[in-house]
Amino acid sequence: MIDYQPVLLANIGKKDSHALAVYEAGGGYRTLKKVLGGTSPADVAAAVRASGLRGRGGAGFATGLKWSFIPDRYSGQIYMCVNADESEPGTFCNRVLMELDPHQVLEGIILSCFATAADTAYIYLRCEYPLAYKRLQAAIGECRAAGYLGENILGSGFSLEIHIHRGAAAYVCGEETGLIESIEGKRACPRIKPPFPAVEGLFGKPTIVNNIETLACVTHIMTRGVDWFRSMGTPSDPKNPRDPGSYGPKIFGISGHVNKPGYYEAPLGITTRELINDFGGGVWKGRRAKAAVPGGISTGLLTEAEFDLPLDFTGPIKAGCLGLGTGCMVVLDETYPIIDFLHNSCRFFNHESCGQCTPCREGTRWALELVQRIRAGRGRILDLDLLLEIADGIGIIPGTTICGLADGAAWPIKMAIRKFRDELEEYIKQTNPDGYASTEPALATAQ
Ligand SMILES: Cc1cc2nc3c(=O)[nH]c(=O)nc-3n(C[C@H](O)[C@H](O)[C@H](O)COP(=O)(O)O)c2cc1C
Ligand code: SF4
Repeated sequence: MIDYQPVLLANIGKKDSHALAVYEAGGGYRTLKKVLGGTSPADVAAAVRASGLRGRGGAGFATGLKWSFIPDRYSGQIYMCVNADESEPGTFCNRVLMELDPHQVLEGIILSCFATAADTAYIYLRCEYPLAYKRLQAAIGECRAAGYLGENILGSGFSLEIHIHRGAAAYVCGEETGLIESIEGKRACPRIKPPFPAVEGLFGKPTIVNNIETLACVTHIMTRGVDWFRSMGTPSDPKNPRDPGSYGPKIFGISGHVNKPGYYEAPLGITTRELINDFGGGVWKGRRAKAAVPGGISTGLLTEAEFDLPLDFTGPIKAGCLGLGTGCMVVLDETYPIIDFLHNSCRFFNHESCGQCTPCREGTRWALELVQRIRAGRGRILDLDLLLEIADGIGIIPGTTICGLADGAAWPIKMAIRKFRDELEEYIKQTNPDGYASTEPALATAQ
């Protein structure tokens, strides 16, 4: 069992953990008072950069570096958009923070706005989280009454307003520029980048988009220091100049076929096996695991043989996955058919494509129809290659789409077919013994 004292989840379990009095009794807002009492915004930004904090929302981009993209000596309006859309399937680590410790989230947002000179923050919250909305709204009211929000906070000269914007829960609203469009009152169709939001974002102004958990980490960096943050995780790989390391604590989720689904905090770099066995209570019903989705369905699949790779920003990539993603894992036991995994993921991404880019709009549809045909017992071995052809051609990585939704659609297909081809071929042969080897054109299947 990992020897680790939770920090992000330290308040969870206390009675009324969402209330200001409880948060303050545990030391809450002391860091804000200290920082506003004498630390400069540049020093906060420098600490975040030195800590090596990387975004917890999925892409793992360096937070301090992103903040530095705000144009130099810019004195106009700057916005902070807090990504609480949490739309990645299987993901619920932002939810626990917002529902059970909203003040931890707010303190992180206030410190981050101070560091980036943002005077307005929007929390973009999915509408399926009504309790999080209620708790955050109440916490904002308490914060304002205590003088932690509004004009001239704690006499520091720094002013900030935080608004909650509730989304209508489309996956693409979590993509940072789709989110910005949605706050502006438009359909959440992602924008072509550049310009990046830090230069031209919400209402055309420089905008930082960060995830809830990323910003919650900022308070702890300022409270406990950069060295504390960097004492956890996986250091950068000197042989890989593109790996800046994976530091700090992370909330991991675990669901699917385990005995104890839930959320758990551990340093980045624990392994899938540790997460399943030490936290998740092992695979359910005494079965073995077949595979696990490392961090949201868009990241792909790890086979059981890959469970000892670290869950940090590079570990899952070494196994061909898209990345660590959100760190919320879904475990599939040995009896679970991979064709069903493929079907669920293709249905999801086809439904969620915003339709702007032809490869994504048409590719996700074709992929779904091929998988439906295989599942309905009319599949051909050739269909697996057609699926791979589609998956290899859609997304930002092959350079054919505006946003990463298409990469997220492609990765489960690539991983399922490349890692479980034998099982899928066997399924096709069993269910379509007369036609599995056919290369003749075949009709699609609607359902
Ligand atoms: C289709 C799609 C959906 C996304 N959904 C989310 C989401 O629900 N929450 C989130 O924080 N980031 C999401 N992201 C990543 C955001 O675009 C952005 O990288 C992130 O909010 C930046 O914050 P971070 O650097 O703190 O992780 C999504 C990206 C894509 C392509
Ligand atoms: S990749 Fe898909 S979701 Fe993203 S902008 Fe293009 S069509 Fe829309």
